[in-house]
Amino acid sequence: MCGLGIGWRLAQAGCRVDIFDKGAIGRGASHAAAGMLATGVETEPGELALLQLNLRSQRAWPAFAGEVEAASGRDIGYRGDGTLVIALTRDDERHLRFLHDFHRGAGVDVALIGGGEARQREPYLNPRIPAAVWSPNDHQVDNRALTAALAEAAARAGARLHPDSAVEAVGIGDSRAAGVVVAGETVPADAVVLAAGAWSRTVGGLEPAALPPVRPVKGQMLALQMDPDAPLLCHVLWAPGVYLVPRRDGRLLIGATVEEKGFDDTITAGGQYALLDAAWRALPGIEELPIAETWVGFRPGSRDDAPILGPGPVDGLVYATGHHRNGILLAPVTADLVSRFVLTGALDPALAPFTLARFDPAVEPGPAALAAE
Ligand code: GLY
Repeated sequence: MCGLGIGWRLAQAGCRVDIFDKGAIGRGASHAAAGMLATGVETEPGELALLQLNLRSQRAWPAFAGEVEAASGRDIGYRGDGTLVIALTRDDERHLRFLHDFHRGAGVDVALIGGGEARQREPYLNPRIPAAVWSPNDHQVDNRALTAALAEAAARAGARLHPDSAVEAVGIGDSRAAGVVVAGETVPADAVVLAAGAWSRTVGGLEPAALPPVRPVKGQMLALQMDPDAPLLCHVLWAPGVYLVPRRDGRLLIGATVEEKGFDDTITAGGQYALLDAAWRALPGIEELPIAETWVGFRPGSRDDAPILGPGPVDGLVYATGHHRNGILLAPVTADLVSRFVLTGALDPALAPFTLARFDPAVEPGPAALAAE
């Protein structure tokens, strides 16, 4: 999806753009995600530099959504309803208060509210909630609709999409990236953007120092089907051990496990049970709902869980990977700033903390990365 956004911007600027995907277009983490634009509730202590980038992208989202919809003629399900985070026990409440203070101190607009006020916003919540945090700027988008819309927008702008076309290697000529090798053929290019998500280390042709330290972080999810005319939930909800994301069509997404198991795509009883149990504790009425879908995705996790953006050691090779939990949130800023770097060679200061140079290439990201299939 990051590749689609960057490709769209480059095509808009008049470049000849080819976008290669090893499977169907946009079927990686962006298809598996929940579409939360969660700067306020998903940033953790230790991620202050990332928080600034997240906030910038969050501010860009409303205009970006409008632009993608206009350019594609598709609805991407952007919902500006805010997000609720609930505690279920006094212990959870202490954690919630800590996170609230951290986020407020970092400049995020969040408010502590009582359990009664939380239930006014969401009447079907567990009545025992002692406290909640209201995050008015954390919205959502339908990530699958977004991916389809970005593909359409990119194609309409002139980009050529190549599904089922795995990039085997980055072609190097005169010590710089000179194209990509697909099905044994070299496709020449002035610049190559490596945006292969959790698979970004599997591309050939690069020295170890040029391989981004990205590993797959498995997430299991499921969707229940609510009655769209009488939904059990109207806002994105975070509860201990789970998040729930209601879509306009009544689908209720429940996620997600965080598993360091390489590219293992098994859907397990334990993973699904943990999600359903945590979701049921927050919203007991879900037990009546049919299960519509279960799936697994692979977050591209870098060694510090922040994205890898911009230039690296090979001229002409540009990175847009390692977005971990924030790929959909960071879509606007990734598309805009990485495409600008490709076009002008000027690195926006906001990207400076996120280049590949911050890693010691001698250190492997973890054994999981080596299990790439
Ligand atoms: N951003 C949601 C997740 O990573 O599960």
